[in-house]
Amino acid sequence: MQKNHLHVGVSEVDVVASLGLKPVYQTALGAAFLGDSQKLLEQIPAETVHLVFTSPPYALHFKKEYGNAHKRDYVRWFIPFAKQIFRILRSDGSFVLNIGGSYNESIPTRSLYHFHLLIALVEEVGFHLAQECFWYNPAKMPMPAEWVTVRRIRIKDSVEHVWWLSKTPWPKASNLNVLKQYSPDMLRLSRRGVRPTVRPSGHVIRNSFDKIAAGGAIPSNVIEDGLPAERDVPIPETMLKFGNNAANDAYAKRSKELGLKMHPARFPAALPEFFIRLLTDEGDIIIDPFAGSNTTGLVAESLRRRWIAMERVPEYLEASRVRFDQPDSSDPPTDGQAQRELF
Ligand SMILES: C[S@@+](CC[C@H](N)C(=O)[O-])C[C@H]1O[C@@H](n2cnc3c(N)ncnc32)[C@H](O)[C@@H]1O
Repeated sequence: MQKNHLHVGVSEVDVVASLGLKPVYQTALGAAFLGDSQKLLEQIPAETVHLVFTSPPYALHFKKEYGNAHKRDYVRWFIPFAKQIFRILRSDGSFVLNIGGSYNESIPTRSLYHFHLLIALVEEVGFHLAQECFWYNPAKMPMPAEWVTVRRIRIKDSVEHVWWLSKTPWPKASNLNVLKQYSPDMLRLSRRGVRPTVRPSGHVIRNSFDKIAAGGAIPSNVIEDGLPAERDVPIPETMLKFGNNAANDAYAKRSKELGLKMHPARFPAALPEFFIRLLTDEGDIIIDPFAGSNTTGLVAESLRRRWIAMERVPEYLEASRVRFDQPDSSDPPTDGQAQRELF
C-alpha cells in the first residue's frame, strides 16, 4: 500500500480506505479530509464509488468567501474534477450535481453556464444524463434586487438544477425507495375504483390500482420536501419546503454555541437524502468532494452508507464535526505508518 495515497480496496464486502493524510475526523462509517478535492480524488481507485453527490461553488458575479470560478471559466475549472469523478465511479454509479443558475452581468438575462457544463459533462467527459431534476427552494432571495424587487421586471427564482448523471445508461436506482404517501384523493379513488376512461391525450385510465400496492406514489423530479426518518415509511405528501440555510438546525445551534465558523451555503438534508435513498444501498460508498458543512456525510451515516467528505477550508470542516457529536476523532494513527483504515 503506497504511503500518502488514499486506498479503497474493491472487494465487494470489504472496501478499505487508508490515507497518509490523516482525516480531520472520522466516524463509524466515514471520514472527512481537508484539501483540494481534485488532488484527493486522484487517490481514490477507479470504479469503487457508488455515488458522488455534491454542490460545488456556483459561478457568481461576486466571489463568495470560499471562492467561485467566474462563469466564463467555469466549465474549464470543473472538467478536471469531473474526469476524476467519472474514473472513480463504478459502472452502475451516479454523479448527482446540484448547481444554481445565474444572471449575466448588468443585464436581465440568464447565463447558460450550467447548461454548457452539462453538455461538456456528457459530450467531453462521457457521462450520461440519467435525468434532470430540480430542487425547489422557496427560501431563495429575490435576486438580483435590481431586476426583481426594484425594477420588478423579473420574477423570483425558486429552483436549482440537479443534474443526475451516470457512468453508463444503467445506474443502480429504485424509485421504490423514495415513494411518497398517496394523496387523500388517490386513496379515495383506490377505495372506490375509477371508471375506465380515455383522456383527451388518448391515454387510457384503467380501473386497476396496482400502483397502490407498491406502497406509495412515485415522486416527481422536483425535490422539495423532507423525508421520513424511517426508511420504509413513505414520504408525507404534505410538503415541508426547505430553505438552504436553516438558521436553527442542530448544526447552526451547536456552531454558534462553540463559536465555530458556520457554512454560509448549506443544502438541506432532504436533498442528499432523496438521492442517497434512490441510488444506493446500505454499505455503499458516497463521496462529496465539495463537502462544506458535510450535510452529505451526515445523511449517509444516518442511512448506514459509507462516506468520504472533502473540503478545502479548514474552518468549515472543523465545524462540520459537530454534526456527528464527536468531540475528538482525529487521534493519530496507531500503526506507526501514518496510515489508517477507514472502513
Ligand atoms: C456550495 S458549498 C457546499 C455546501 C455543502 N453542500 C453543505 O451542505 O454544507 C461548496 C464548498 O466547496 C468547497 N470547495 C471549493 N473548491 C474546493 C476544492 N478544490 N476542494 C475542496 N473543496 C472545495 C468550498 O470551500 C465550499 O465549502
